[in-house]
Amino acid sequence: MRRPFISANWKMYKTIKQTAEFFKEFLPLVKDVKDVDIVIAPPALSIPKAVELTKGSNVEISAQNLYFEKEGAFTGEISADMILEAGCPYTIVGHSERRQYFNESDEFLNKKTKAALAAGLKVIFCIGETLSEREGGKIEEVLGRQLTEGLKDISADKLVIAYEPVWAIGTGVTASPEQAQDAHAFVRGKLKALYGVKADDLRILYGGSVKPNNVKELMSKPDVDGALVGGASLKADSFSQIVKFK
Ligand code: PGA
Repeated sequence: MRRPFISANWKMYKTIKQTAEFFKEFLPLVKDVKDVDIVIAPPALSIPKAVELTKGSNVEISAQNLYFEKEGAFTGEISADMILEAGCPYTIVGHSERRQYFNESDEFLNKKTKAALAAGLKVIFCIGETLSEREGGKIEEVLGRQLTEGLKDISADKLVIAYEPVWAIGTGVTASPEQAQDAHAFVRGKLKALYGVKADDLRILYGGSVKPNNVKELMSKPDVDGALVGGASLKADSFSQIVKFK
């Protein structure tokens, strides 16, 4: 049985003060949730505050990004060791906004994932097709490439996969539960080719306009093991409803 995994991706939202306000409201709302992994990825500056406020709770913190070098003259970047030392066990890698706006390639994301895992972080690795790729019948080609190249020479331990169709992110257009299941089944098949039976234990999250009113149906699909939530994770009330989807 795969344990549900619900993660917030705050993107470039919330100051340290707003982060503290969120947790004050959110933690009591989810304190009794025992059977779901709850992870929140705030902006890097808010990570220490988020770690401090969630200590001893059922919520874990994730970074949104990292650089693959251990240290050096890389202005503006943060390393896996810095994230880990801040008490943060996870990082997201390969979000479509990083791929799209910061030109991050499969090869580059492979290096980041390797660096994160080598340091001891767990990785939420994101993949997903654009609308034109979907309409051009290229879903399998794109997802297949993102997985085989992005996860090249990487072991399955400490990986969580997030399928996020780019056309569903921040648009209010969610993939239907059937579309999500089809893509997730394909992804699981690819992961089986890469990792054998271990693929059965890997969590595959769906991301793209997940809301309190659609999470339950998405989560009812056999290969949808969780959600990566942007907009609806910014309010304690709506994100707690998503966490308590059951
Ligand atoms: P959204 O974002 O929930 O606002 O669509 C999801 C994501 O980008 O992870």
